[in-house]
Amino acid sequence: MKTTQKLKGQAAIVTGGDSGIGRAVAIALADAGAKVLVNFAHNHDAADEVVKIIKDAGGKAFAFQCDVSKEDEVKAMFAAAIKKYGTVDILVNNAGLQKDSKFVDMTLEQWNTVISINLTGQFLCSREAAKEFMKRGVVEKRSAAAGKIICMSSVHEIIPWAGHVNYAASKGGISMFMKSIAQELAPHKIRVVGIAPGAIQTPINKPAWETPSALNKLLELIPYNRIGQPQDVGKLAAWLASDDADYITGTTIFVDGGMALYPGFADNG
Ligand code: BGC
Repeated sequence: MKTTQKLKGQAAIVTGGDSGIGRAVAIALADAGAKVLVNFAHNHDAADEVVKIIKDAGGKAFAFQCDVSKEDEVKAMFAAAIKKYGTVDILVNNAGLQKDSKFVDMTLEQWNTVISINLTGQFLCSREAAKEFMKRGVVEKRSAAAGKIICMSSVHEIIPWAGHVNYAASKGGISMFMKSIAQELAPHKIRVVGIAPGAIQTPINKPAWETPSALNKLLELIPYNRIGQPQDVGKLAAWLASDDADYITGTTIFVDGGMALYPGFADNG
């Protein structure tokens, strides 16, 4: 087997696959042989571009619009993937956003929007995925597991973040969500894992890297001294979804250049 085809024949759904980390994950999974539903919330053109990149490289993909916080839309997305590819083997819960605000000024809408997309969205998508995985069971020629769920978290599942309490709370929630369903689903041969990216160069954190002074300030938080690239996360997701990671479930892998190592303590404390 070519090392790049470890997901051959498997069908994947990548939420928020139209931009940033999700885009790189969709491309990396396709590169490893998976057929990919590239989910988007609003930007159809961007999702089509990801589909084109995958198809131009000889892969299979299609774009599908769905707001992951809406139960009926999530069900429709899974139905579309199953209709097209027969089943779903891999779910990457990637869709997420920030609505930043000082705590005392944060509106209920800012709070609810972030919790709905970042946390409830992972609940709705994972539930549909788990039902499909349990119904189908293991297909040995495809994977040792009946299915894989990857929950995109953040270093902010452990690092508190002033001015971003809705986001940090959603990511802290993902940590326990991921572990709890991993415990419940392991007997069904379903693996559930988290990925906690640090500062990855994407549109979500553009203000933190778009000027040299902002980037220098950001690098003070990254011992490895470079900003992350979406591919750093894409490659990890493809590996975690593959049988090379078959004994990994219920844990989170940090891909952050050391951001979670409390770098402020390197010369202090
Ligand atoms: C956030 C980014 C931030 C990074 C490190 C991510 O989860 O979405 O905006 O740069 O964490 O703080």
